[in-house]
Amino acid sequence: MGKRYLSGIQPSGMLHLGNYFGAIRVHVEHQDDAFYFIANYHALTSVQDADTLRRNTFDVAATYLACGLDPDRAVLYRQSDVPEVCELMWLLMTVTGAGLLEKGVSYKDKRARGLPASAGLLTYPVLQAADILSVDADVVPVGADQVQHVEFCRDMAASFNHLYGEVFKLPEYELGTPVPVPGIDGQKMSKSYDNHIPIMMRGKALKKRVMSIRTDSTPVEEPKDPTTCTVFALYSLLATEEEKAEMAAAYRAGGYGYGHAKLALLDKLNEHFGPIRERYDHYVRHPDEVEEVLERGARTARAIVRATTDRARAACGID
Ligand code: TRP
Repeated sequence: MGKRYLSGIQPSGMLHLGNYFGAIRVHVEHQDDAFYFIANYHALTSVQDADTLRRNTFDVAATYLACGLDPDRAVLYRQSDVPEVCELMWLLMTVTGAGLLEKGVSYKDKRARGLPASAGLLTYPVLQAADILSVDADVVPVGADQVQHVEFCRDMAASFNHLYGEVFKLPEYELGTPVPVPGIDGQKMSKSYDNHIPIMMRGKALKKRVMSIRTDSTPVEEPKDPTTCTVFALYSLLATEEEKAEMAAAYRAGGYGYGHAKLALLDKLNEHFGPIRERYDHYVRHPDEVEEVLERGARTARAIVRATTDRARAACGID
């Protein structure tokens, strides 16, 4: 048996190319014996509208399935369908220093910006630790922003084990090679900067988005530097080595405008995401199929999580 991967995806909005290259693709590559769940409890710390949360939750599931997540290989579930994680969270809270949580980056950032933070935001890492420990995960594939959460999780597991015996397996994080995905303004792609390209965007809307990618004003006839160009960076994520070399040469030769490059990028996006969008549309027409996958995932996950939670309860005298 290989290592068990686990990751949670927050349903905080339409998934975009940054999510695709940073997370979805990695998850789909590591899907055997993997656990992927939609972190809707976590999302309540930022999404506070019921319809939006429901829609986003469905959207993550349909997008993952469309991108190739195979429910026969990976367990895909909704966090809230496994309510035992909240029970486990409480047990972990009792061994977690309040001071540790105050060092949490999201909490600290919010406080530093003078914004009120909920207890949910403060204890967010404890719920995340419960997610990870609940299925005895070996590996959590993460971006740099989540390393601290896995370290907190290891701290909590070690404290609990120290007090009550070897209950939890300590997970490792696996830091993926960062894939820089610039948004249409050249900054890191992020929904909160509104510079993102949604995976499911298409047709005129997509064309408009691509044509509005910010470039410098070098005239068509002049040579251009591909290494500093957002269009080229996005194209490179999807193109073969030959195609990349070809476009780079065209940039350097002059007589090739950003408009040409944008149209080439648009073609690439349609070629790569076209079939994915079709599968996504299928799930939008058949939401019951998505629901069935999620329920099946929850049954599998829940049996394991119940057993872990019972083990933890018994270890601390609640049985
Ligand atoms: N905090 C993660 C994020 O914002 C989402 C998440 C919740 C998660 N629980 C998890 C990731 C458990 C890995 C493991 O991306």
